[in-house]
Amino acid sequence: MTPEEHPLHQHPTSPAARSALHRWRTDRSGSDWWRDAVFYQVYVRSFADGSGDGVGDLAGIRDRLPYLADLGVDALWITPFYPSPMADHGYDVADPRDVEPVFGDLAGFDALLSDAHARGIRVTVDLVPNHSSDRHAWFAEALAAAPGSPARARYVFRDGAGPNGDRPPNNWPSVFGGPAWTRVPDGQWYLHLFAPQQPDLDFTNPEVVADLETTMRFWLDRGVDGFRIDVAHGMAKPEGLPDMLPTADTGLLADHGPGDHRFDQDGVHAVHRRVRRVLDGCPGSMAVGEVWVSDDDRLARYLSADELHLAFNFKLLTAEWDAEELRTAIDSSLATVAATPAPACWVLSNHDRPRHVTRYGGGELGTRRARAAALLQLALPGAAYVYNGDELGMPDVDLPDEALQDPIWERSGHTERGRDACRVPMPWSGDEPPYGFSASPQTWLPMPAGWGPLTAAAQAGDDASMLSLYRRALALRGSSPSFAGDDLQWLPAPAGCLAFRRSGGLVCYLNLSGAPVPVPEGRVLLASGPVDGGRLPSDTAVWLQT
Ligand code: NOJ
Repeated sequence: MTPEEHPLHQHPTSPAARSALHRWRTDRSGSDWWRDAVFYQVYVRSFADGSGDGVGDLAGIRDRLPYLADLGVDALWITPFYPSPMADHGYDVADPRDVEPVFGDLAGFDALLSDAHARGIRVTVDLVPNHSSDRHAWFAEALAAAPGSPARARYVFRDGAGPNGDRPPNNWPSVFGGPAWTRVPDGQWYLHLFAPQQPDLDFTNPEVVADLETTMRFWLDRGVDGFRIDVAHGMAKPEGLPDMLPTADTGLLADHGPGDHRFDQDGVHAVHRRVRRVLDGCPGSMAVGEVWVSDDDRLARYLSADELHLAFNFKLLTAEWDAEELRTAIDSSLATVAATPAPACWVLSNHDRPRHVTRYGGGELGTRRARAAALLQLALPGAAYVYNGDELGMPDVDLPDEALQDPIWERSGHTERGRDACRVPMPWSGDEPPYGFSASPQTWLPMPAGWGPLTAAAQAGDDASMLSLYRRALALRGSSPSFAGDDLQWLPAPAGCLAFRRSGGLVCYLNLSGAPVPVPEGRVLLASGPVDGGRLPSDTAVWLQT
């Protein structure tokens, strides 16, 4: 199909567009395309600014589609671009079925989708079901309505504890710090697992579930290929909202074990089954869940045939740069999916965690390790998510206090700096901020000096750059039969090294031993560093065809 024939060149809701969309989906849905896809996470504020206001937007993404096609990604995950007061940079959604003016409009979204599809890139978008913004029309209605009213029943309003009801209904902390409850003028409290501007919705209310389905259909009808589901382990709350067991770490990335009643409640699976039914009605579409559940068996429950297609496995992202830890992370991720229809789904970085160049030591060392980690991630069977800027080897940035915007900074009483360091805009070209990211020198987070060599333009012409490594790796992964098969077989390797073979014949060999080791037999397809003289240096990975 030529770009002009794409259904979204017509009005998206017209019958002609709908039937063309159906044809496009069935032509291209093939088998389950997402099973081994490389998804590229676009943190919309930070990827590229088309409007010149210093904030990334949909037009910026559209302009950079040639770059993404050249990089070789299969699909995009675009973080929330819906109308939002930005208390949590878009994860506080005031209207899930429209576009925030800072990011563009619906016509701009349709144009982006159409152009991405024309280049063979699928597009998935964020669904934020667990909570809305406090500026959502429903929450305004709830505040204006009386306790016990249907308007309040869409959220989790409760009377307080204590004789005057002036204590929160239970001891739950907000993930962003402080209590998870805020009191309203008539004395009731509402639940917000995240910021007070993100009131939790009540998924036992049929109207709430029906509205989520409406939102999904809205974007599927426009042509999106799937969703990333925010806080997919949230949504359900236990009967009676009992106190949770106090734990030292209650934050975003905490290990939400059985004592933490805020997350991973059994009732969540009914919601996922409803989500899946909508997707099953739309062949070729999929959902990946953000499921922060570390127990392998409990995580696997989200991947039943009638629930999520994929669940991020965060074990690789939380593992230290250590052979044993990485191997355990891989084994546990594969064990999680073994009894489910899902493949594994690998993540090294995202907009909530320090970037892996920084986690692995920063500087030249962190970059060398990140190159090796890229080959590890992309050699593993299953789907992979690349966070925008991974392919440039972006590190975290030390931002001054006054630049910090993440609600975690304020909510923690300035004890936790939050996630801004990993959200700094992408450098595209030139030697000075804003490095082609925006026409405005004032970017929403400041960009540091000295990033000229990190820009996409500088790296594109350098054979030895991180960008060139990613391009080659993705090209090989997308074209070589060596990457076939869902299996991984561990091979014997010296202490501090990891080696495995895919059934298609690819061998990935990673040296973390601190000293060079001999390169095993096989034709070198790609290496993250020099393999001269048959020696593989430490913190280096190689792909071999055997
Ligand atoms: C997870 C998202 O990745 C994070 O950025 C957000 O703050 C929370 N969910 C709340 O929506």
